Amino acid sequence: MSKSVEITFTRSAKPSAGLAVLLAAEGAAPGPSAQAVDPAGVLEKALKIADFKGKARSAVDVIAPAQSSADRIVVVGLGKPSEPDPDAWARLGGAIAGRFGKAKRATVYLDAPDVEIDANAAASVAMGMLLRSYRFDRYKTKKKDDNGKTPDTVKVTIVTPAASAAKKLWAEYEGVAGGVMLARDLVNEPANILGPLEFAAKAKELDKLGVEIDTLTEKEMKKLGMGALLGVAQGSTRPARMVVMRWNGGKAKAKPVAFVGKGVVFDTGGNSIKPAGGMEDMKGDMGGAAAVTGLMHALAARKAKANVIGIIGLVENMVDGNAQRPGDIVTSMSGQTIEVLNTDAEGRLVLADALTYCIDKYKPEFVVNLATLTGAIMVALGQYHAGLFSNDDTLSEQLTEAGLATHERVWRMPMGADYDKLIDSKNADMKNIGGRYGGSITAAQFLQRFVGDTPWAHLDVAGTAMGSPANEISQSWASGFGVRLLDRLVRDNYEK
Ligand code: BES
Ligand code: MN
Ligand code: ZN
Repeated sequence: MSKSVEITFTRSAKPSAGLAVLLAAEGAAPGPSAQAVDPAGVLEKALKIADFKGKARSAVDVIAPAQSSADRIVVVGLGKPSEPDPDAWARLGGAIAGRFGKAKRATVYLDAPDVEIDANAAASVAMGMLLRSYRFDRYKTKKKDDNGKTPDTVKVTIVTPAASAAKKLWAEYEGVAGGVMLARDLVNEPANILGPLEFAAKAKELDKLGVEIDTLTEKEMKKLGMGALLGVAQGSTRPARMVVMRWNGGKAKAKPVAFVGKGVVFDTGGNSIKPAGGMEDMKGDMGGAAAVTGLMHALAARKAKANVIGIIGLVENMVDGNAQRPGDIVTSMSGQTIEVLNTDAEGRLVLADALTYCIDKYKPEFVVNLATLTGAIMVALGQYHAGLFSNDDTLSEQLTEAGLATHERVWRMPMGADYDKLIDSKNADMKNIGGRYGGSITAAQFLQRFVGDTPWAHLDVAGTAMGSPANEISQSWASGFGVRLLDRLVRDNYEK
């Protein structure tokens, strides 16, 4: 990860060299700062010629005339202030950072006539800028941009009357952005570098933020009876791990909430091997575990007032003389037996034992699991919503709301007895695949058999955590999906 923006907040700033960013709402002129930034008054004509209407996140780029102390002026649209746009401020920040170009300094004037821009808005703009600027360039030894230049860190000054409150909030939001970027790094990292042990070591680093970490070895998992998870891991020379992360920011006696992530560091499919084309993407099959780890980073960094458990099951699904075969029957920690009819439906096997362990040991108020679980969820929802499956309407509504607020959207899918029957097995309590249709739903039904009465939600993030379409706040293959969503879920519902 290269951090390429440095952000400070100030109440006022004299126009200086570099890029000046001004805001304008739809149909309105730029804010009062325009007078100081553009003493020659060239903007009015420029905006007219460019047919700038102030649409949300649209922008006009002007080379500043000699009279201006800025080198370049960018005017960015706010849209109609009357039409609140979910997560608009972070996305605006992303759109602004998208215009930095070769600038080394940028001054962003957060004012526009009749638009309220408070501390939350200012800190959110900053978060959008930081997330937009993320690059996974660790393995680019020459670190050159398209023009052959080494990219500089952009020093950004955000000018707002709410500077001091924004600075305080930014201390929190920067922690959340750090969690998103940690998740992106973990997902982008190739599997030769990031195996189960390396991932576990990364998670262990969260102890610096005050997160308590326990790591279960294979021996310990065997003792606990985690036959489902260990069956997946047995084809890899790299041993499995389960990492438990605990953040105790709430009242001592308050029940924790829990998050569980699928961490398949690489998914070849095992003996039910995947086709070669695109298999490289399966380095991202730990996107659920990455989101849980990023979330724990975010919560600890902003000192969330909640007790939160994060559990990740880390395995590699390989082809090998010792790999699991189709038809094998394994016994899960819950005691339920599973006929493994397809070794490529491995994520649910890992999650089954992680969910049982989580619920048995911590009796959480609810558990949300995240997993890059099925290709079918992309067929159903494309890449702009994660699939939401749940046994609890309240939790579903809270997740849906948090999704709208962060633009990490989820869409609830059906579940029920008809679908559940499809995973009954002739030879064991259940099989790990359903029929031809509804593959994401039968996967969810499988998970539900391991959660009992605990309020539970499963997010299928196969379409949203990786291979993500670029947007205002992410230019990365790995989006970090889930961190901001679940941070918001905790913040809005469990910190009162
Ligand atoms: N990790 C995959 C799902 C996946 C596919 C994630 C594409 C991201 C992009 C999962 O382990 C898997 O292989 N699922 C199978 C299930 C099937 C065998 C029932 C699938 O989706 O094909
Ligand atoms: Mn698979
Ligand atoms: Zn998988």
